Amino acid sequence: MKHFLKETDFKPREVAEIFALARELKQKRGRHTPPVLQHQTWAMIFSKSSTRTRVSFEVGIHELGGNPLFLNKGDIQLGRGETVADTARVLSRFVHGLIVRTFDHAEVEELARAGSIPVINALTDFLHPCQIYTDAFTMAERWAPKGGDLFASLKGRKIAFLGDTACNMANSWILGANLFGMKISLAGPKGFEPPKELDALLAKEGFAGGYEFTTDAREAVRDADVVYTDVWVSMGKEAEAAERIKTMSPYAVTAELFAAAKPDAWFMHCLPAYVGKEVTQEVLDNPRSIIFDQAENRLHTQKAIMAVLAQQPRA
Ligand code: CP
Ligand code: NVA
Repeated sequence: MKHFLKETDFKPREVAEIFALARELKQKRGRHTPPVLQHQTWAMIFSKSSTRTRVSFEVGIHELGGNPLFLNKGDIQLGRGETVADTARVLSRFVHGLIVRTFDHAEVEELARAGSIPVINALTDFLHPCQIYTDAFTMAERWAPKGGDLFASLKGRKIAFLGDTACNMANSWILGANLFGMKISLAGPKGFEPPKELDALLAKEGFAGGYEFTTDAREAVRDADVVYTDVWVSMGKEAEAAERIKTMSPYAVTAELFAAAKPDAWFMHCLPAYVGKEVTQEVLDNPRSIIFDQAENRLHTQKAIMAVLAQQPRA
């Protein structure tokens, strides 16, 4: 059973196919969508807040002919201590796929191991792979020649990631950049270097040392094709808010910092954005800010991912 828990769960050739399918689904939206989830129910267990992920999955499942079933963790027995493994076994008897947003990455791995249906990681404290595939697709839409190979257009491009360089988005972008053949330079405060756990995963995937880390924001954005940032206070880190905002303030994406990247660089942010913290309103409003295209593309990319997972042979 194939799952999508981390970027490298698909090989480059498969990612290229997902991007091509996402483009086709985007073009055909509202006209013809293959009902690949017909007569299926896909459950969504969420332990954290969400706007984009929840809505894009619910709409996407519906558009593929399936039935989305949203389960707030606090409303099911998992929230009262039923084991993750039993939850996976029980849900596997009812539904055809599982989309999970949670804190501990081990929880999505356990759901995948214990169940018998595909599991999609909709964000953990460690990784946010649906966002990274969507972001890469959004870049490729701009870089690939019309109708050309989206995946191939990423090769050799440079992304600069600023601010919280030890969060799920930074980890996921490091893994994604290596998979897509991109270069990644991260700038954040001392003490926010990517975690050892990520280094271990990179080594396992054959990507050891596949990123640059600096405390100098200008150095990271030099020659960058994309300037990317994320919220400084991720879900679950609220107790550290004041300290984080103080430490990360030199990494705010201002118009001046954005101008130090390539003249045609794109600004990207997974959203939600906190204006005046990690990014200024001026940058968000820049014509080269593509944040809402990113948000929209969650729908198309995730539909493609679900279609691929749903069509694998089952026991
Ligand atoms: N970018 C993202 O995952 O947004 P939500 O938290 O709103 O789902
Ligand atoms: N790093 C953020 C991403 C939100 C989409 C968080 O985990 O809260």
